[in-house]
Amino acid sequence: MKIEVTNFTKTIGKTNVLENISVTLNSGHIYGVVGKNGSGKTMFLRMISGLILPTEGQVQIDGKVLGKHISFPDHLGILLEKPSFLGHLTGYENLKMLAKIRNDASDEDIQSYMNLFDLDWQSKKKVKQYSLGMKQKLGIIQAMMENQQIIILDEPFNALDEASVETLRQVLRKLKAEKRLIVMTSHNKEDIQLLCDYTFTLSSGKMMSPTNESAVLIAE
Ligand SMILES: Nc1ncnc2c1ncn2[C@@H]1O[C@H](COP(=O)(O)OP(=O)(O)O)[C@@H](O)[C@H]1O
Ligand SMILES: [Mg+2]
Repeated sequence: MKIEVTNFTKTIGKTNVLENISVTLNSGHIYGVVGKNGSGKTMFLRMISGLILPTEGQVQIDGKVLGKHISFPDHLGILLEKPSFLGHLTGYENLKMLAKIRNDASDEDIQSYMNLFDLDWQSKKKVKQYSLGMKQKLGIIQAMMENQQIIILDEPFNALDEASVETLRQVLRKLKAEKRLIVMTSHNKEDIQLLCDYTFTLSSGKMMSPTNESAVLIAE
């Protein structure tokens, strides 16, 4: 799959929260978006997901313009800040309910992802009793459990314990090998350096590095 962003500017009020961004993202890579708080990292993820529409410019997913030809990319999995789930259901029940919408994840898929992230799928614990890290894991799982080809993760390592950080790193490497297109933000330079093939640095909504289309190659 290919995500092509061309001269994308988003103006809210008088501020350009994203300014003249042009990037191309391809399957089989992990892309990292870095920058200070408020620099536009979450907006960048919203932009390529069709969750904000441009003031100027466009995003194409495999040649289809977001907001025109399609409203939301097919096969997109997304974790944004503070994933919300139904508190009175268990984690497993929440994931099963989400899986029903598309019918792409089997019970076994969900169970094995929960096992992988050290969540007991048979537990009676309701999500309202979950810790922040446990909720984060549910958010991560729903973004990938349906074999989504584009996976967008906003600060996925937040609130995870050491073992889960290692698990997530391994899972992301496996998904990359399966030719998924992964875009993530992180405050942690180590996660970005260990995982990402390319990074984009944002400052006040502008792309600092690379200069537009030529991404900085960290490792390949
Ligand atoms: N709903 C909104 N309305 C107006 N401005 C917003 C909104 N959400 C975020 N912003 C602004 O957009 C800029 C980028 O925010 P964001 O992408 O969330 O930053 P980051 O994820 O890098 O911390 C910030 O200046 C923020 O104040
Ligand atoms: Mg953010």
